[in-house]
Amino acid sequence: MRRRRSSECECLVHRQPPGTKGKAPDSARLPLVSAPGGLTVNQHSNRDAYHLPVMADEVVEWIGPMARDGVVVDATFGGGGHTRRLMKAMGEHIEMVAIDRDPEALENATALGGSLTAVRGNFADLGDILDSHGIEMVAAVLFDLGVSSHQFDVDARGFSYRRTGPLDMRMGDDADFTAADIVNEWPVEDITETIRTLGEEPRARRVALAIVAARPLKTTTELAAVIEDALAGGRPGRRHPARRTFQALRMAVNDELGSIRAGLDAAIDALRIGGRCVVISYHSLEDRIVKRRFADGATGCICPPELPVCVCGREPELEVLTKRPLTPSEDEIATNPRARSAKFRVAAKVAS
Ligand SMILES: C[S@@+](CC[C@H](N)C(=O)[O-])C[C@H]1O[C@@H](n2cnc3c(N)ncnc32)[C@H](O)[C@@H]1O
Repeated sequence: MRRRRSSECECLVHRQPPGTKGKAPDSARLPLVSAPGGLTVNQHSNRDAYHLPVMADEVVEWIGPMARDGVVVDATFGGGGHTRRLMKAMGEHIEMVAIDRDPEALENATALGGSLTAVRGNFADLGDILDSHGIEMVAAVLFDLGVSSHQFDVDARGFSYRRTGPLDMRMGDDADFTAADIVNEWPVEDITETIRTLGEEPRARRVALAIVAARPLKTTTELAAVIEDALAGGRPGRRHPARRTFQALRMAVNDELGSIRAGLDAAIDALRIGGRCVVISYHSLEDRIVKRRFADGATGCICPPELPVCVCGREPELEVLTKRPLTPSEDEIATNPRARSAKFRVAAKVAS
């Protein structure tokens, strides 16, 4: 059994799911409109405008049948697009838990009704979240990684280099620091390392030196201009020069890769035999973690080949159901360009 981190999740909408241990529900309500650090955020009126779900047909195909045998967890609720599609497809046969670290995302849950428990929390704490709702095992867990379109679109969240906003980038107020803390306070070596590893920016040191020289930086567009200047004269690319650095800052602020590792471990722990873990990732750093975790879980005996019999006793806990990741159709990419880089992987639990 892997260790679970402590959870500080809050439950927004609760209906007791099946298979529970009968513990009392945590029914603390979140304010309906809130944002990290007391920021003012834009209200959203249209759920598709909030976020268009990616590969939703595939989500229904791979997760829908699981719903007959237990609770389904949407670990990245966002605009609720995937949850809504699953609830529509499965009708009364589905009991769902929806998690998001962003309180604003969970506003979308109130409209869904049905058998949905919405929880504010980090999916890294999935084990504790399920424990606190008396859920011992689940039939499926969905991770649709990264940020929602809505988070990018709200200037005040500070995710976009195209929109002027504060250097915030926290998905939820559980993050320990903001992007402003990194660019204005971290040593140049640490900024370089972050931009190099999480942004895969080949000229990371040049960018980091420019950032440190421009301190104090207050807004996203100020930072974007500093990066653009620092990289001017280089090989022109198709993408904005600030894209990699912004990605790196966002991933560092939200400890995205650490959360994915912990979340996958917790999800695999919680799955019943035959249950499925589905992950949609959007860049290679995320996808590599998923691919390796699934491959590791699907590995049996690791004894040296020269040993005549197995002494390690290791059995695979997973079967990888998508040998290669599924990708969105051309039609979907045409209507939703954000889907372009999606990779969809599924593993089934075969043993505890
Ligand atoms: C790509 S969006 C999900 C969109 C959703 N599937 C839909 O159809 O609307 C990702 C969501 O996951 C949330 N998120 C990202 N990392 C998280 C984490 N570690 N724990 C909980 N929520 C997280 C973000 O706040 C965001 O709302």
